[in-house]
Amino acid sequence: MLLIYPERHMNVKLANNLSQVDADAVVVFAAVSSAKENPTATLLSGNQAAIKATASLLGTDITGKAYEATWIYAPDGTQAKRLLVIGVGKGEKFDPNVLRNAAGAAVRQLKAKNLKSLAIALPENAAKHFSDENWVRALVIGAVVADFDANYYASDRKDQTLQVLTVINTNGSNLEAAIDEGRIIGGSQNFTRDLVNEPGNKMTPTILGERAKKMSEDVGIECEVHSTEKLKELKMGSFLSVSLGSEEPPALIVMKYEPEGAASDVTVGLVGKGITFDSGGISIKPADNMEKMKYDMAGGAAMIGAMRAIALLKLNVRVIGIVCASENMPDGKAQKPGDVRFAMNGKAIEIINTDAEGRLVLADGLCYARQLGATHLIDAATLTGACVVALGMINAGCFANDDSIYHRFHQATHHAGEKFWRLPLDEEYQDSIKSSIADIMNSGGRHAGAVTAAKFLQEFVDDKPWVHLDIAGTAWIDDNKPWITKGPSGIAVRSLVEFVRGFEKT
Ligand code: BES
Ligand code: MN
Ligand code: ZN
Repeated sequence: MLLIYPERHMNVKLANNLSQVDADAVVVFAAVSSAKENPTATLLSGNQAAIKATASLLGTDITGKAYEATWIYAPDGTQAKRLLVIGVGKGEKFDPNVLRNAAGAAVRQLKAKNLKSLAIALPENAAKHFSDENWVRALVIGAVVADFDANYYASDRKDQTLQVLTVINTNGSNLEAAIDEGRIIGGSQNFTRDLVNEPGNKMTPTILGERAKKMSEDVGIECEVHSTEKLKELKMGSFLSVSLGSEEPPALIVMKYEPEGAASDVTVGLVGKGITFDSGGISIKPADNMEKMKYDMAGGAAMIGAMRAIALLKLNVRVIGIVCASENMPDGKAQKPGDVRFAMNGKAIEIINTDAEGRLVLADGLCYARQLGATHLIDAATLTGACVVALGMINAGCFANDDSIYHRFHQATHHAGEKFWRLPLDEEYQDSIKSSIADIMNSGGRHAGAVTAAKFLQEFVDDKPWVHLDIAGTAWIDDNKPWITKGPSGIAVRSLVEFVRGFEKT
């Protein structure tokens, strides 16, 4: 079995002359020209060899359309065997987020041919209001993310990872730091994807805890993994209730990153849902697509990947990462609809549906994050099918009890190039989860399911500024894209990193 973390394999170098780079392919970009321009496609490179090789093809073979790939063999004036032209869409809209995916598309083109080395030329006539660092970082992230393959257990799996990526930057500035950042962030997104990709039998709560521990040792942060006894001691009756139906013990993963010199009045608490398999429990799910419920730990995996990146980037912010890991299974000992459980903060919860288990584990995770000193909370969870119905697989859902923290998060998603859409938390929705026997019910019925789930979580954040991310529709990609394979997406890792980075300034 090959477990491949691309960043460990892909060697990234800098060069400043496209013509002198020896690689299986050099990549240049082409954009759709603005209206009435002729030719209708524009090459985004000033290299004479690239200009000559593409001149007669611009507007015909090369249209500049997003992700279009045009191969030119043995181009004159270069040492490379091939020139690959990747389309980026409209020139006016070209930004680092577009470049990230375009670089990814180039990598996947090479992998399809089993080629091992590529050089990518930074677009030269690109908008100057983004710094070179921003362009390079995005390019490297895109390349690293594209290098991930999901077919771990195929017996004919080959190592198709790239060996060398050369970034060509003609102005010769020093961009090593931007390359490192790109490798760390892309590598951490892949770290998360690796955890999510594993099937339920190979990714139990205990194994997830071990993987978090190993990662924490590697990057030098604190990590403790607790199980049933400690959960009882902490009075986490809500979290515990979910694990009752499983032979696998739950895991409460607690990671701490406390850099010296970070502001002492901010501790960001990252809380992730880590259901390593969600059968629904006694309220069992239908068989169709149940196998996909191995990715119900994607929120937790995102927190582990984010902690990794935050530590490697040495961000100057205190962060606590908590993952509530459990299986959700039916069994004689499993909890039943109608049962009443008490969360860590004393709230009484009537269990209406054992399949609404994510909010039950997060309830105690959010309380615990506050107990450990978190001043700002953000959670990520594959929480509701209703969110998938509302937003599909394009945007993830996002909720916040405070406009200023929402604004911070929104900025972060913009830098990260991930899509989240804010949904409401009006007080009126609370009525749907009122219980007649306890404080709240764990299901609010069919209407506004993503919102009532978020309202449930809000009961456990108290007055802390909080963002909730529902990534049910975006954590798994069903079809191959030009820039990324189908399988786990690693959604939220990049936004979480930028969100935490945003606290460095305050
Ligand atoms: N893990 C599921 C949500 C989910 C659905 C994730 C589809 C990814 C894709 C969650 O635990 C769940 O079962 N939610 C229920 C809640 C309901 C019983 C109130 C749902 O959305 O149906
Ligand atoms: Mn469920
Ligand atoms: Zn679930």
